[in-house]
This record gives sequence, structure tokens and C-alpha cells, in this order.
Amino acid sequence: MTAVAQDLPGVADATTDALLSVDGLRVEFGPADAPLVAVKDVGLTIAPGEIVGLIGESGSGKSLTCRSIMRLIGAPGRVTAGTVDFEGRDVLAMSSKELRDFRAHDVGMIYQDPFSSLNPVMRIGDHLRETLRANRGMSKAEARAEGIALLERVGIPDPERRYLSYPHELSGGMRQRVMIALATASRPRLLLADEPTTALDVTTQAQILDLLTDMRRELGMAVLVVSHDFGVIAQVCDRVCVMYGGHVVETGPVERIYADPQHPYTKALLDSVPDMESAGNPVRREGIPGYPPELTDVLPGCVFAPRCAHARPGCTSVPMVLQPVDAAAPDAGSTACPVRPFSVGGPFDPVAGSPPDPVAVPVSPQPAAATAAMTAAETAARAQTGDPGDLPAPGEARITQPTDQESTR
Ligand SMILES: Nc1ncnc2c1ncn2[C@@H]1O[C@H](COP(=O)(O)OP(=O)(O)OP(=O)(O)O)[C@@H](O)[C@H]1O
Ligand code: SF4
Ligand SMILES: [Mg+2]
Repeated sequence: MTAVAQDLPGVADATTDALLSVDGLRVEFGPADAPLVAVKDVGLTIAPGEIVGLIGESGSGKSLTCRSIMRLIGAPGRVTAGTVDFEGRDVLAMSSKELRDFRAHDVGMIYQDPFSSLNPVMRIGDHLRETLRANRGMSKAEARAEGIALLERVGIPDPERRYLSYPHELSGGMRQRVMIALATASRPRLLLADEPTTALDVTTQAQILDLLTDMRRELGMAVLVVSHDFGVIAQVCDRVCVMYGGHVVETGPVERIYADPQHPYTKALLDSVPDMESAGNPVRREGIPGYPPELTDVLPGCVFAPRCAHARPGCTSVPMVLQPVDAAAPDAGSTACPVRPFSVGGPFDPVAGSPPDPVAVPVSPQPAAATAAMTAAETAARAQTGDPGDLPAPGEARITQPTDQESTR
């Protein structure tokens, strides 16, 4: 945990005194006898006052993980395994009343599509007043005063006038500030912010991220920030969980993940971040070859193997299990890749079990070259010479745009 989180009142070690603890989470769609598994095995912890990032390409299961924490997976989706523990309470076993109280007082959520969460025919003040009266039992007059104070706190100029505005009269940044005011109106202990800055210009994005860190300081609130942008994560988070194909594949403090990623997917994500310092002399970044798995894909062993530049015989039989990156430093986080160090095709880490039997890595129908299993010798040679091998040309890979079509609360 960074000094920022440790300095906050009430902030404890995430692993020993978690506010939220998710373990073995599994979310399925489709028929029970032939389920489509969207979230396969997700675990994460958040300490009081900590900001944790959840990053991964489109479809990796980030939003479903947030919705599971709120118990907002709509039928036919369902959580079929795992636990969600909030301060010692089992969220998945809560009664309707307990769940209502949990959502009203303990946790707030900024939805991925905030604009559809605001009723276009209701004024901003009506949204705030309803929330404050329902969740904090305020009178109309108290709710009006508090609503205006909330708008002021999230940086909305002329809050008395904006209290009477309709959503369409506000800019995108202002509407996002309103969503933050609504999500934090009950002073929750935990805020789930699903892509809070998507579709905002960079200046507004920076302001919104500053607002989240200010509110964490003021309220001692923990935040789970979902993003597919490492720049966003680096700006505000203490720790990060990297998701791929319904699994968390790496966790750790942001500084360590940036300086020394221990999973090839994390490294590939970092390598695809545009280099902002090279303005005027731009450095072209390669995306990640191939495509994330579909729900219908059944991949044995490591789910990243078909796209992994370091894949080797045996990767299709490694278990998707997080192991400490450094057994002597538990705070350094964990990785699901047992090849250590992967960058030079090191041996399978004994901590993850004995090396699996060599089997062929499956070939994806997408850029075939990306699926080629590299031998340790090839990998080492390429690492030394800088030769990227048979990877697809820059631009062939893609990060798809969000397509969240789920209903909101
Ligand atoms: N209601 C649903 N019915 C069927 N499949 C769904 C449903 N909601 C989500 N999925 C699928 O589950 C997977 C994970 O979805 P999720 O929305 O959690 O992804 P995400 O990581 O948030 O992606 P994005 O970055 O695009 O928001 C995706 O393949 C998605 O298509
Ligand atoms: S090296 Fe093997 S186990 Fe590690 S991420 Fe690549 S395919 Fe998966
Ligand atoms: Mg999403």
C-alpha cells in the first residue's frame, strides 16, 4: 500500500483488515447445464480508504465484478460461486432489507454509462432530494440544503442554479460530477466507480480523478476504479488488479506493476499506453495482438496463452492461480503466470507446482502468428536482440469500445 493510503485515518493493510473482500467470484449466463462463464474466478481486497484499480480490456468482466459486489446481476445472469464480504458481512447472503441498507449506506456506485442513469425529465435537485430523503431520512428542506452543498462539494459552479437544471443542460463533466454527488450522498465507505472518466476530455478527466482523491481524503472512503486506461489507474490508485478473460491475472502496488510487471498481459497493456512524453516525436505503440476470449471459448490452462508472446509448451496446462511475485514480500502482489521471469523464458516457478506436461498451445482463428508458442531459447534471443518475432503489425490489435447494455439500478 502506498504512503497515501497509509496516512489516512482508519486505513489498514488490505490483506489483513479489508473493508471489502471478494473471493472466488463466478458469474454465469445461459442455461445451467451449458453456462457461459463471464467471470471465472475473481478475488480482490480493498482496505478502508484505499483506492484500487481494476483494469483490463473490454469484456474481461470488470463491470460484472462491480455489479456482483452490489448484487446487481440481472437474470439470466447469476453469481454461482464465491464470496463477497463487506466488513464481515456476507453480501451474497443478505436479506432484501439488509441489501437495501447496504446499498443505501455502505456502498455507492457510478455506473459505466452515467448519462443513462439520470432521468432526463427530472431536475438534478430532484435526483439528489430523492436519494437524500430515501437514504438519509431528511426532510424536503434539509435535502435541498444538503443537495446544494453536495453540488458545491463536487465542484459545480453556481450550485443553487444547477440544482434546478435538467441533465441535458449540463456538460458531460458536470453530469459526471452530479453522478459522483449522487453516489456519495450517503457518505458510503466504498465507492465503485465504473469507468468514471470515459468519454471525457483529458482536462475534465484529470479534474474528476482529483475530485475522487479529494473525497477519499475528506470522507476516508475506499474506491474501486474501473478503467481500461493505465494512465487513469496510475493517477489515483494505490494498488491495481489486472483482469483478463474473467480472471484476475496480476495484483500489486501501482509502482511495482509499472516498474516490474510480472504477467505478460500486464506488460502488454503497459506497452500499449501511448507515450505522452514523446509529444512532437511520437513513439508508435503496438497494441496486443489477437482478441480477448469470447464467452464461448474454452481455453485449457492459461487463458492468455493464445495471445502471449512468451507462451511455451506447457502453458495450456498451468492452473489460473495467483501466486506471490516474491514470497519474501507479500505486499508486492501476485501473478497468475508461473514462468519466471517470463521476459527471458525462465523456468516454471516451482511455487506454482511442477512444470506441466508439454502440450501444444491452441491456435486462435485471429492473427495466427500471435499464437505461436515460443521456446525459451527463442524468447531469450528475441529479448536480447529486440526482435519482436512474428507478431502482427502495429494497428492489427484492438481494444474494443465498451458495449454495456445492461439495465441500471
Ligand atoms: N447481460 C449479459 N448477458 C450476456 N453476457 C453478458 C451480459 N453482461 C455482460 N456479459 C458478457 O460478460 C462479459 C464481461 O462483461 P463486462 O461488462 O463485465 O465486461 P467489462 O470488462 O466491463 O468490459 P467493458 O470494458 O467493455 O465495459 C462480456 O463478454 C459481456 O459480453
Ligand atoms: S508465459 Fe505462459 S503462463 Fe505465462 S502468461 Fe504467457 S501463456 Fe500464460
Ligand atoms: Mg464495463
